[in-house]
Amino acid sequence: MVVIKMAMLDAGSTQSTDSKDGDNLLEVDRLRKWFRVKRSIIEILQGRQVSVVKAVDGVSFSIRRGSTLVLAGESGSGKSTIARLILRAIEPDEGSIRFAGRDILSLDKKGLMWFRRNVQMIHQDPYSSLNPRMRIISIVGEPLEVHGIKDRKERDEIVLKALEEVRLEPVDEIAYRYPHMLSGGQRQRVAIARALVLKPMLIVADEPVSMLDLSVRAEILELMQNLKVKHNITYMYITHDLSTARYFGDRIAILYKGRIVESGDIDDVINEPLHPYTQALIDAIPEPDPSSRLRDKSIRIRFTMDVYDESGCRFYARCPYAMDKCKYEPMMLEVKRGHYVSCFLYK
Ligand SMILES: Nc1ncnc2c1ncn2[C@@H]1O[C@H](COP(=O)(O)OP(=O)(O)O)[C@@H](O)[C@H]1O
Ligand SMILES: [Mg+2]
Repeated sequence: MVVIKMAMLDAGSTQSTDSKDGDNLLEVDRLRKWFRVKRSIIEILQGRQVSVVKAVDGVSFSIRRGSTLVLAGESGSGKSTIARLILRAIEPDEGSIRFAGRDILSLDKKGLMWFRRNVQMIHQDPYSSLNPRMRIISIVGEPLEVHGIKDRKERDEIVLKALEEVRLEPVDEIAYRYPHMLSGGQRQRVAIARALVLKPMLIVADEPVSMLDLSVRAEILELMQNLKVKHNITYMYITHDLSTARYFGDRIAILYKGRIVESGDIDDVINEPLHPYTQALIDAIPEPDPSSRLRDKSIRIRFTMDVYDESGCRFYARCPYAMDKCKYEPMMLEVKRGHYVSCFLYK
């Protein structure tokens, strides 16, 4: 027991993002997932025994019922790994995940069915996420069948209604098509309908619009937003693109190399980013009118080897404000009410 506790502390400081008021649908605490990977040639020459990717390294956050948490960070920061951990597609090394008050890592078979009904996923790629050999009506009806609605007619009725809700019209035509006969935006609507039919409490959407044409992104996000209000859905919206996050989220957590570096209400974080990494991300948002940029001078991120990757602030090697003490791990501080940052600039 003692050993476990020590290991948890090693995994990083507690990075709480929300006040714990019992109204949370999802609570993630000090989640950790490291992957052992094949050594590169350089690592073999250096005599390193194993190579480990610290994909998720002590991440804590919570999501209130009916709200949207945006999980943002650049490619490789650990977003999809967190999604897979929450969906129970992979097991964490350490940490806990509570959903609707229940520890999802210790559910029995019945509990797991309940969990799988109530947590749905929308994937990034609307081309590979739908079975090409199935008609839309079967794709959207499949989760219903798995979860016990055996009557075909009853299933079809629910599916047609769901297709109508995601505005895939004419419904009775689209229902009998195959995925390849639809556009990217239409396919993502199918994926949303499929996520919706079981009336889940939580939908995890992993970059749901990043592979779609710019022109349809806003439509899909608007649809998701409308469904959220209508069905009181809670979302975890994962993105590397802060310009879409802005119009979609309530709170945001900024992930860098497997750790949350900043979190808060989305307007606070976007209008007044505290962490140098968040500032750089926001400066990178394309702005049609340069004079309306949030900041005059953009921060130049240094591109160097990440020497202090293992122990201190993960952003040390790239940070324009790096100080000596940044070689140590900064604690998560509440700088303003509900606005947290893990950075020595605020100590
Ligand atoms: N199954 C795996 N085996 C080894 N490394 C992995 C595996 N899955 C993810 N990773 C690594 O973990 C890190 C985080 O990946 P991921 O969660 O996919 O990031 P994101 O979704 O933010 O782009 C990356 O360095 C990635 O290469
Ligand atoms: Mg990803």
